[in-house]
Amino acid sequence: MTSEGPYIRIDQVSRRYGPVRALDDLSIDIEKHEFIAILGPSGSGKSTLLRLIAGLDRPTTGRIYIKGEDVTELPPHKRGIGMVFQEFLLFPHRTVRENLAFPLRMTKETPQKIADRLAWVEGVLSLNGLMDRYPNQLSGGQQQRVALGRGLVAHPTLLLLDEPLANLDRELRQEMEVEIRRYQKQLGIPFVYVTHNQEEALSMSDRVAVIHRGRLEAYGERQAIYDRPQTPFVARFVGKSTKFAGVVDPTGGFIKLADHDYAVANAATGLHRPGMAVEIFVKNERFDLHPAAEGRAGIPCVVGDVVLRGPFLEYILETGGRERIIAVQPKRVDPLPLGASLSLSWDAGQCHVFAAE
Ligand SMILES: Nc1ncnc2c1ncn2[C@@H]1O[C@H](COP(=O)(O)OP(=O)(O)OP(=O)(O)O)[C@@H](O)[C@H]1O
Ligand SMILES: [Mg+2]
Repeated sequence: MTSEGPYIRIDQVSRRYGPVRALDDLSIDIEKHEFIAILGPSGSGKSTLLRLIAGLDRPTTGRIYIKGEDVTELPPHKRGIGMVFQEFLLFPHRTVRENLAFPLRMTKETPQKIADRLAWVEGVLSLNGLMDRYPNQLSGGQQQRVALGRGLVAHPTLLLLDEPLANLDRELRQEMEVEIRRYQKQLGIPFVYVTHNQEEALSMSDRVAVIHRGRLEAYGERQAIYDRPQTPFVARFVGKSTKFAGVVDPTGGFIKLADHDYAVANAATGLHRPGMAVEIFVKNERFDLHPAAEGRAGIPCVVGDVVLRGPFLEYILETGGRERIIAVQPKRVDPLPLGASLSLSWDAGQCHVFAAE
């Protein structure tokens, strides 16, 4: 045991199922006060990673450390980890109190300790008045809070959550996101939260780990993941972006779009070889729109439709070909009219350029 090093260390962990590499040489450190989101598409290995941390499954290679202790061979109940999994539903024929006491009975705690812990969890999660109800007498959000309580009742050193809000409607989900984050900050233990929903990942976490095909694509502070994606996958998967094909011009200083008569300054590092094929990703809210009559450089387009999204407008822009580009703009007093002719452009510093795959 040592107090040095990170609170949790996932060290070069791989998990194979026959030919399937569910996780491939993945390393992540987690600090004590962090809310970590594990973000990736379906089948990328997110649940596998949680099962390995929980001890419900063993890595094929690699080690897992909690507070400096190698727990790779420890059974789940000796790891001090709480879990809230989408499929771990509440027992329908037991009250909230009995549901919450369940993990404590499993580890054979004394009646006094069980009573103390129940009182604690009732207070922390504001379950007053609900303790003697059955799950079907609770709202979806209340049920979710009880499930969270069951994960926390044994005072875990770490809470794992696997898509716990996937079954809730959007409004309730957003409320619960704020609540869960508040509990994490209040309790001061790390939460590792799996989701394939990037909005959820970005709204809740301190750091985001992006997983793709079992590999760690990116791990960093959420704003950096959003603003400065380091791989094409992250650029595509985090935020809503539009991809353009381009070629570096003979001077190396500009990128000429393959399908449009538009060139942007080449602000990319290390991608200046003339003739080099590149991909450019622009977040949909980073486009600049100007009336075509102003004569600015850009992609000529026409407003095909305008969609209202709360305080934002989504312009569906037609460029003549089959391609449609979506540009998101803050709502103005006068939205641009349908059929308006525009020039679409962006700042060199506002796009992400990669060598073409
Ligand atoms: N017990 C198993 N046996 C064989 N293959 C498995 C097993 N468990 C997972 N896999 C495979 O490992 C890969 C990762 O699965 P995992 O459940 O971790 O994905 P996920 O990111 O949680 O996906 P989702 O978002 O759909 O829940 C998938 O290709 C899956 O089919
Ligand atoms: Mg999963």
